[in-house]
Amino acid sequence: MKSKRWLERQYKDIYVKKAKKIGFLSRAAYKLIEIDNKYKLILKSNDILELGSSPGSWTQVILKINEKSKIDAFDIIDMKYKHQNVKFYKKDFFLFDFNSLNKKYDIILSDLAPNTTGHKQTDHLQISSMIEYIISILDIIAKKNSSLILKIFKGIEEKNIISVLKKNYRKVEYFKPNSSRKDSTEIYIIGKNFFKIK
Ligand SMILES: C[S@@+](CC[C@H](N)C(=O)[O-])C[C@H]1O[C@@H](n2cnc3c(N)ncnc32)[C@H](O)[C@@H]1O
Repeated sequence: MKSKRWLERQYKDIYVKKAKKIGFLSRAAYKLIEIDNKYKLILKSNDILELGSSPGSWTQVILKINEKSKIDAFDIIDMKYKHQNVKFYKKDFFLFDFNSLNKKYDIILSDLAPNTTGHKQTDHLQISSMIEYIISILDIIAKKNSSLILKIFKGIEEKNIISVLKKNYRKVEYFKPNSSRKDSTEIYIIGKNFFKIK
């Protein structure tokens, strides 16, 4: 998007204004607030894995809701938000060996996004490959009965992803927060009660 148009949109966007006022690092905070208002997953989750955590507004929200939670956060760029309960891994999650942590989580959150091209199909395929990778390591990272919050861009792979997730979680739903831009194909998938344990 042209930088002038982006700037104009930022000025008008109520969530950008709100985020600034409250001190959240980005408007993305409101997406997680809306998701958790509906599903109430964070308060009961102590061990949390966040994929795509920078700059850190989701982490801020998590710790506001559940100050006792311990978060392992992954991103390829630095997190601005720092907190004693957050262990930040500056890593490409595709290349990280999650076996090495020897740890399972109560909730896995992925707000991962590839560098978007603007070409909807390409962006969809890239985020789908991220999600497919997460699904492939669920046995290593997900506790029994744990939950999942995943960002996806809608598209052709979605049906397949949902059907695989339904084999891993007792309940799988879509949620589009009001704070997610209407013109974006972004939507969140919520999984509850992971049950596929080897
Ligand atoms: C939409 S932003 C996340 C915003 C974050 N939830 C927040 O509230 O501050 C998506 C993030 O995914 C990260 N990302 C993309 N590919 C990644 C990869 N392979 N490994 C780790 N992080 C990645 C990007 O660097 C970016 O910071």
